[in-house]
Amino acid sequence: MYPGLVHAHSGLRWVALVLLLVSVIVAIGKWQGNSGYTDGNRKLYLFTLIAVHTQLVLGLILYFISPKVNFSMMSEKLYRFYSVEHITGMLIAIVLITIGYSRSKRATDAVTKQRLVGIFYGLGLLLILASIPWPFRIPGAGWF
Ligand code: HEM
Repeated sequence: MYPGLVHAHSGLRWVALVLLLVSVIVAIGKWQGNSGYTDGNRKLYLFTLIAVHTQLVLGLILYFISPKVNFSMMSEKLYRFYSVEHITGMLIAIVLITIGYSRSKRATDAVTKQRLVGIFYGLGLLLILASIPWPFRIPGAGWF
């Protein structure tokens, strides 16, 4: 089960990243162009939220079973990264994205709806990019 979960969590990063990038581009474009809010936009932002929340669920399971989460090895970069840095960065990013989605949903005018997604999803995307264990940064991490 463990290798399968790592592969699912690792591969789903690309789905989450692509959806986040498209959401941010669409939301900022429509916010700046003052060009409305469609049902397609709502679905895109919802699928993005679901992809990110799925990563949260997979990540939480991994957090309890992964040998890379080890609080007695905190002097080593790899263990510190997975035990503290990865989870902290990702949790903050997921909270930001969730706040953006729900505030945008409650907003009544189109410009505010797009602005909230553009800003909160944008900040979340930056934080996720910074917290991913890219292979050039973290030994043993994969691309997929
Ligand atoms: C959008 C959010 C997230 C993304 C994009 C993401 C992405 C990744 C990636 C790419 C890996 C490396 C897999 C590999 O070695 O190939 C990884 C590993 C890991 N992630 Fe996440 N992650 C996210 C959220 C989380 C959260 C919220 C947690 C904890 C609650 C978490 C816990 C872990 C753990 C424990 C590992 C190490 C798995 C192992 O190799 O043993 N992740 N994550």
